[in-house]
Amino acid sequence: MANAVPKHIGIIMDGNGRWAKKKHLPRVLGHQQGAKTLDKLLNDARGMGVEHITVYAFSTENWKRTEDEISGIMGILREYINKYFRDYANSDFRVDSVGDLTALTEDLQRDIARLKEVSKDRTGIHLTIAMNYGSRDEIKRAVQKIAQEVKDGKLEVSDITEELISDHLDSAGTPDPELIIRTSGELRTSNFLLWQSAYSEYYITDKLWPDFTIDDLKDAIKAYQNRDRRFGGRNEVSK
Ligand code: FPP
Repeated sequence: MANAVPKHIGIIMDGNGRWAKKKHLPRVLGHQQGAKTLDKLLNDARGMGVEHITVYAFSTENWKRTEDEISGIMGILREYINKYFRDYANSDFRVDSVGDLTALTEDLQRDIARLKEVSKDRTGIHLTIAMNYGSRDEIKRAVQKIAQEVKDGKLEVSDITEELISDHLDSAGTPDPELIIRTSGELRTSNFLLWQSAYSEYYITDKLWPDFTIDDLKDAIKAYQNRDRRFGGRNEVSK
């Protein structure tokens, strides 16, 4: 039987740089186009049954890029977070983040906190933006929080379960993604949702992120629906 539409989709929006290079444009324009693609996709995906979308906007490794590119991406994030605050004031989008925001500028941290607060009770698509995000860093911070609670006598070592670890991650409260899409053909997880994607299906397309459309999303969902998800067990009738 076909799988249902995934409730949570993670997206590694890769290929913005290559898209810009092909067009002889600065890399930042590739990211600008990538943000437009995401914006359109969020609107087009309404009513399809997808409830949560987590996008990889800036990784803990992206600080290695040039200052120009970093400030370009941060500028785009600032622009869109403010746009979502304004444009979505009367809409149903909920916006969240994962990642260590303390490395971002104070104004950006304030804008993100304001957007999260104003949208927290909404029931439409739940967009989580991964900013200064790395799975290993997220897991490290979760382990630190748990260790502190054990030290403070709030937890016993035997209380540490997989569920408790999930509840200490930045993504606590959001179900694990059933599907992860990666554009531009790379076959890597790149430190994205490593804990949460233990049983996720991966869909890789050669399309560069700025060229990704709602039809590509539908293709990814169709491919997911035809996968045989076994979670380590067996689905076939035993002989
Ligand atoms: C990877 O492409 C993309 C990024 C590092 C940045 C993605 C950020 C955005 C699309 C802005 C997001 C906006 C919102 C509102 C969440 P790359 O530069 O690694 O591409 P390349 O591999 O072709 O060089």
